[in-house]
Amino acid sequence: MSSYTAIAHTNIALIKYWGKRDATYILPYNNSLSLTLDRFYTETTAQVATKDTFVLDGYPVSGAALIKFTNFLDILRQYGQTDQKLAIRSTNHVPTAAGLASSASGLAALTLAATKALNLDLTKPELSRLARRGSGSACRSIYGGFVEWQKGHDDSDSLAVPLATDEQTTLDIAMIAVVVSNQAKKISSRQGMSNTVATSPFYPAFVKSCEADIKAMKQAISNNDLNQVGAIAEANALKMHATTLGADPPFSYFLPETLHVIQVVKTLRQNGYLCYFTMDAGPNIKVICAGSQSRTIADQLKKALPNLDLAIAKPGPGAHLISH
Ligand code: PMV
Repeated sequence: MSSYTAIAHTNIALIKYWGKRDATYILPYNNSLSLTLDRFYTETTAQVATKDTFVLDGYPVSGAALIKFTNFLDILRQYGQTDQKLAIRSTNHVPTAAGLASSASGLAALTLAATKALNLDLTKPELSRLARRGSGSACRSIYGGFVEWQKGHDDSDSLAVPLATDEQTTLDIAMIAVVVSNQAKKISSRQGMSNTVATSPFYPAFVKSCEADIKAMKQAISNNDLNQVGAIAEANALKMHATTLGADPPFSYFLPETLHVIQVVKTLRQNGYLCYFTMDAGPNIKVICAGSQSRTIADQLKKALPNLDLAIAKPGPGAHLISH
């Protein structure tokens, strides 16, 4: 029986997805916009089998995690009108302690490998819609470069669309992951966003501001204006994190060291280096800068933060098959 191996790269949002208007179908409140990265990816192999099994990073998955995984495979099977079971092996290629979530790359690679093994030949929009059902941000990892997740009206049109048809970025951009902590976060993005949507009075203001931020971000990207891209992304991330302080109970993903790294980025900026930051549902910082300056900026960061791990990433490709 043939096996299919797919690769999908992780993506980092410049304009954040932070809240579902429909938790079953994972339909977001606002459009989001991300950059797919070359450095961090998941490689997943799928093959038809007598029962569903899942080996992640060399270890068999069981219990609640396996149920979550088979529930997602059920969505793919229902779509393909098949009841075939699958054996899946998945490996995350994220440098140790990069502090980057792998759910986007993981679910995107799984969607491609599993649908192929189920004998489905899907288009990228179909793959994006299905990946969304596993983890919202995964729909963006189907494509490379800059990608917009259009919130859509329902399941049929809530999907990602690449900004450039060839998925190439003309903007010279890189992201430096600065690892503040590699501990698993106490509040998952799923739980954090649902508490925020339900209780934070700041949430509607965040959603509203994302509409303007997306427009401005697309303009900045098409103008190749990295300064604007960084400024809008930084402000958007801070607005997302502000919503969590208004939640009941209030919470925050910041650690003391997070504020320290932010201070270092701001000082570098005052000293003439073009760099901004963004952060997701955890304490780690991603520094946005020009690809051509990423080494220099990483050296400066390392000088100021000698104990923290850094990893430089550039724009990466969309999900693709590497063998079958
Ligand atoms: O797709 P999820 O459930 O892992 O949520 C991702 C949420 C953020 O990373 C914080 C923002 C984003 O748009 O990726």
